[in-house]
Amino acid sequence: AETDFAEAVVIGTGYGAAVAALRLGERGIRTTMLEMGQLWDQPGPDGKVFCPMLNPDRRAMWFKDRTEAPLETLLGLPIVNRPIQRYAGVLDKVHFSEMSVYLGRGVGGGSLVNGGMAVTPKREYFEEVLPEVDSGEMYDRFFPLANKTLRVNTIRGAFLESTSWYQYARTARRQAANAGYGTQVIPNVYDFAHMEGEARGTKPKSALAGEVIYGNNHGKMSLDKTYLADALNTGNVTIKTLHHVKRIRRQPDGTYVLTVEHRDPFGKLLSTKEIGCRHLFLGAGSLGTTELLLRARENGDLPGLSDEIGRGWGPNGNVMTARTMIGGFQQSGMPVLAIDAWRDRSVFAEIAPVPAGVETLASLYLAITKNPERGTFHYDRGTDGITLDWRREQMEPSVRAVRGVFDEINRTNLSTYRADLFGIGKVFSDDFTYHPLGGCLLGRATDAYGRVRGQKNLYVTDGSLIPGSIGANPFVTITALAERNLSRITATDLNH
Ligand code: FDA
Repeated sequence: AETDFAEAVVIGTGYGAAVAALRLGERGIRTTMLEMGQLWDQPGPDGKVFCPMLNPDRRAMWFKDRTEAPLETLLGLPIVNRPIQRYAGVLDKVHFSEMSVYLGRGVGGGSLVNGGMAVTPKREYFEEVLPEVDSGEMYDRFFPLANKTLRVNTIRGAFLESTSWYQYARTARRQAANAGYGTQVIPNVYDFAHMEGEARGTKPKSALAGEVIYGNNHGKMSLDKTYLADALNTGNVTIKTLHHVKRIRRQPDGTYVLTVEHRDPFGKLLSTKEIGCRHLFLGAGSLGTTELLLRARENGDLPGLSDEIGRGWGPNGNVMTARTMIGGFQQSGMPVLAIDAWRDRSVFAEIAPVPAGVETLASLYLAITKNPERGTFHYDRGTDGITLDWRREQMEPSVRAVRGVFDEINRTNLSTYRADLFGIGKVFSDDFTYHPLGGCLLGRATDAYGRVRGQKNLYVTDGSLIPGSIGANPFVTITALAERNLSRITATDLNH
């Protein structure tokens, strides 16, 4: 069969990939995006694109027999998860031996399933983590550009202070303040004007129907509505869905050839294709990009790849915990407040909803902590996949820090930890992350702009560039860093 050829290929359609496609398309470069997940724009039999949170079906998860929501039980009963048909659903949970990683699958990557929290990291921590990046340029130009193009907005103070839907957040804020901890209002890509319409009954409910990890049917400005829509509007970008890139080889003439499997949404192989390109952008996320490069290195497909590939991975110090609190039965699915104990305790804890539609007497937190521990990915020839060298004990610094903050909040408010949400008796959930970062670090596996060392015209553009921790929810940083790198690459490497 003939090999299709594109001037540029972008693998994935998450944050880094979407930035690359838009900036390439704007320069007139014909670009093909290859995404293993589906395009989520067709309603199912219930009239909705995404399935409901509390009544999930096959649309919820990526080829699983049972849903794997982060809360194992509710009110002591294992009612949260249920059997489903194996299907190309939107949320994946990838299991390594001592750490699991949640990922979005579909056009928009993580933007389809995430909480939409759009946080610009503290400048001093950004400088500590990425010292080789000019932070002046980032904070003056690329963070504002990312926030604007992502359509980040902030909840109106009067709405936050009055609506029953954020009673849980206000109560948690007051109880944190009782222990001396301040909170911050967190911007989001969920359209708060839409949410106020939901509360008034004039707009269809999504955040206020508890929707979040299995996709939002309304209100959320996921990438398909922002960067990817803009990219398609250039007329130079096409997206191929259910196209899974398996192999990357460099040809003697310096171009790249990808082996790609096209499947139907039930997993049936439709065809195996070869797609060639001159410029290749890896935006398959921390796990996806690292796996492709490790496989290529170990199989000799990309001679000269550095030993740094696979190193420097971290879970952004993610720890979940919950405590007893009356939160109300109405809880918006989009978090808007975070406890900021970063300076004293290296803990930044989002006040998360428990959108169960009933009073659960639980206040839930996703804490981001400063954790210096790092993991390493290895290629496994037997499975043709990757393993993650990360041990459970490596989360200990994070758990200790989170315990320090929440012991104090519990003591001052006479509350206790909930031991029935993450598996019986478990108070801290330290074995999964929403924020995988690293594997192809900027300045190590790549040069200072994401050009893969030892290769020409091969770029990393996603979360795998960031060394394991960024001290805040990561997508704004991933987007802004990709903007910075693409601005350099389009000006120098593609200037013809
Ligand atoms: P991303 O993972 O977004 O995209 C990679 C894409 O590549 C996916 O679409 C994948 O299907 C595709 N792909 C992978 N391998 C491929 C292959 N071989 N061939 C073809 N396609 C392939 N962050 C934040 O800032 N605020 C928040 O509120 C949250 N909340 C949150 C909740 C949940 C449930 C999750 C899972 C995650 C979050 N996050 C978050 C994290 C955030 O979503 C995440 O950091 C970014 O999506 C990562 O962006 P990337 O561009 O690195 O990859």
